[in-house]
Amino acid sequence: MSDKLWGGRFSQDTDALVETFNASIDVDKRLYASDIEGSMAHLKMMARQQIISKQDAEKLLAGLERVKARIENNEMAFSHRLEDIHMHVEDALGQECGDLAKKLHTGRSRNDQVALDIRIFLKKETQQIMDRITGFQKALVNLAQAHLDVIMPGYTHLQRAQPVLFAHHLLAYYEMLKRDRERFADAYKRMDAMPLGTAALAGTTYPVDREYTRQVLGFDRLCENSMDAVSDRDFIMEFISHAGICMIHLSRLSEELILWSSSEFGFITISDAFTTGSSIMPQKKNPDVAELVRGKTGRVVGNLMAILTTMKSLPMAYNKDMQEDKEPLFDTVDTLSICLEVYTRMFPHITVHRDRMRTACGRGFLNATDFADYLVNKGMPFRQAHAVAGRAVALAIAQDKELDDLSLLQLRELSDLVDEDVYEFIRLDQVVARRISAGGTGFDNVRSAVEKARKELNS
Ligand code: ARG
Repeated sequence: MSDKLWGGRFSQDTDALVETFNASIDVDKRLYASDIEGSMAHLKMMARQQIISKQDAEKLLAGLERVKARIENNEMAFSHRLEDIHMHVEDALGQECGDLAKKLHTGRSRNDQVALDIRIFLKKETQQIMDRITGFQKALVNLAQAHLDVIMPGYTHLQRAQPVLFAHHLLAYYEMLKRDRERFADAYKRMDAMPLGTAALAGTTYPVDREYTRQVLGFDRLCENSMDAVSDRDFIMEFISHAGICMIHLSRLSEELILWSSSEFGFITISDAFTTGSSIMPQKKNPDVAELVRGKTGRVVGNLMAILTTMKSLPMAYNKDMQEDKEPLFDTVDTLSICLEVYTRMFPHITVHRDRMRTACGRGFLNATDFADYLVNKGMPFRQAHAVAGRAVALAIAQDKELDDLSLLQLRELSDLVDEDVYEFIRLDQVVARRISAGGTGFDNVRSAVEKARKELNS
């Protein structure tokens, strides 16, 4: 007989390479606390239902505490021979409680056990990710609030378009992160269903009280169908998908930070503590942190492809393929967490060069739309005003000037509706201040948006 926990029907030992190939302990040992929490709830339920005696349950509960302490004190030897975290905990419990430990796995399978462990783990991690998103949102709002009067070029097609407030630009990312947080909160609801007691796939013959186990573990509800309970990994696909979207937001922001800190833009400086030098070019100061966040987005998108592809075509119910769910999940949790953390720390160390931003607004006809609006105010239909403004731009380009530099005479040749007040109308601050439509970049709008964000963040 094989010496495995499942060795009864086997006459040969497992091939050594297969043992390593089959083992998931290197990855899933991270689930040890969730696994023990689940086993403890299972024991309490079994004692309550008189599936095992109270005394036995108490001995086993104390034994599990000791197993947990052993793992946390680094006293547990992990080996491929014992395959995964579930078998390691059970084996260690055997060392603590002898043959009594063999009662733990009554009315349970590793299939419902692993489904439970990941849910317990991911519920906690999702809460932490949500807190980290809030933390980074605070850093964004702080930077916005400290620069409420800073005007920068707003871009479309990466061409200067219309002036906007720097704070308004930052708050665009506040909105993206708000949606990210909402998505995680929504995913949390679906992972908050309890699978234990569905056993291998069909349910169990023991009088388990799943409702009691649910209460002990603090889940919102039960997984309803035993076959779905052991084979559902939607909550992992959802989590990684949401993480992918959040990373894409961070990646877009990274791209802007990289551009803004280049000599070409010169809009910001990231402090030395968050940049690195070059081993050959002494003058270099590189935005590595932003580049790495942008780069790590690829990993998370890759993790999403990995879990989706693993789940594709799996028949009911559990299949060993699902053991491959943990690596992409853990990597996603770690990658998103550290990216949010590092940006939260870096943002207070960004210096904003308001003069460079303002100067950049002075070239590229960012007030051309407002010149057209000026003519509309004087009674000209918009399409016609657009054409006149276009001719004004062409004239200015030909003379290497901006609209503000054209003389009143030159402007009046294009339309006799133009008066001296045009120069005040197309002045940079005026152009920003007039953007008063809801959600626009007007000074008052942005000030209220910051206040609203503060309230939402409770800070
Ligand atoms: N290590 C396994 C996993 O992560 C645990 C479940 C194994 N179940 C089984 N029937 N072999 O998926």
